[in-house]
Amino acid sequence: MDKEQGSQGNSRGTIDPIGPRELRIMNSRARELLLRYWDFPIFASLLRSRRLSLENAIVLDVGCGSGYTTLLISETFSPRRLDAFDVVPGQVELARSRGIDANIFVADIVDPRLPEHSYDAVFICGVLHHCPEWRTGLSRVAHLLRDGGVLLIEEPGSRHIKLETVLMGRPPADGAWTGLEPFRDEVASAGLSIVEERPIYFGLFGSFLCVKAAEARERDHIVARHLLRTPAGDVVTGQEVPA
Ligand SMILES: C[S@@+](CC[C@H](N)C(=O)[O-])C[C@H]1O[C@@H](n2cnc3c(N)ncnc32)[C@H](O)[C@@H]1O
Repeated sequence: MDKEQGSQGNSRGTIDPIGPRELRIMNSRARELLLRYWDFPIFASLLRSRRLSLENAIVLDVGCGSGYTTLLISETFSPRRLDAFDVVPGQVELARSRGIDANIFVADIVDPRLPEHSYDAVFICGVLHHCPEWRTGLSRVAHLLRDGGVLLIEEPGSRHIKLETVLMGRPPADGAWTGLEPFRDEVASAGLSIVEERPIYFGLFGSFLCVKAAEARERDHIVARHLLRTPAGDVVTGQEVPA
C-alpha cells in the first residue's frame, strides 16, 4: 500500500467534512475514552458472539480520524495487516504520528482507489453520517470486502442527527444521512447483510456487524470461515469461503 496515496486530498476536493467544533471533540481525550471503554467493547463482543477472530485478517479502518480507532483495532484485534484512511490530510498526519503498525493514507470513501475484494474486515466508526454520498461510500466499501468479509459499523440514529444539527449549527446536506432506517435499507443493495445490531450511547447510535454474503440464506452461517475460531480457540486459516 502506498502510504502517500491521495496525499493531495480527495478527488472531490472535500477536506473539511466535519467542521472545526466536531473535529475538536473527535480528537479529544474524552472521545478516546468512550471509544476504548464503550464502542470497542461492543465491536469486540459482536465478533466474539459469532466466534470471529481478526488475528489473521487484513483489516481497513475507514475515516480513521486521528487514528485512535486504528490504534484500538491494532491493540484489540491484532490483525495480520491494518490499513486506515481519512479524507482530511491533517487527521492522517495525526494518525501517523501515533506510530501504529498500519498503513495510513489520505483517501475518500466515495472513491477509495483500493483493490476490490481485498479486506477481511472493515471498520467504519461515525463516518457515513458526515458523507453526503454515503450510499456510494457504503457500496464502495462492500466492494473492498472479500466474500464473507465483515463490516463493523457504528453510526447515529435520527435523534442524534437532529441533536447534532442544533449543536453544530450545520443542517445535513441534501441526500445526507438522516438515521439508521435508510442505512438498514441500503445494506442489502450494497450486497451486505446485517448479522447483529446493538444500540449504543443510550440508543442514539447503532453498532452493527454486517457480512458480505452473496446469498441471504448464508447470513446466519457467517460465511467468513477464514475468520472463525475452532472450539479450541485456534484461528482457522486458509479455508475457502463456501460457495
Ligand atoms: C466523527 S469522525 C470519526 C473518526 C474516527 N473514526 C473515530 O471514531 O474517532 C469522522 C471522520 O470521517 C472522516 N470522513 C468524512 N468524510 C469522509 C470521506 N468521504 N472519506 C473518508 N473519510 C471521511 C472525517 O474526516 C473524520 O475524520
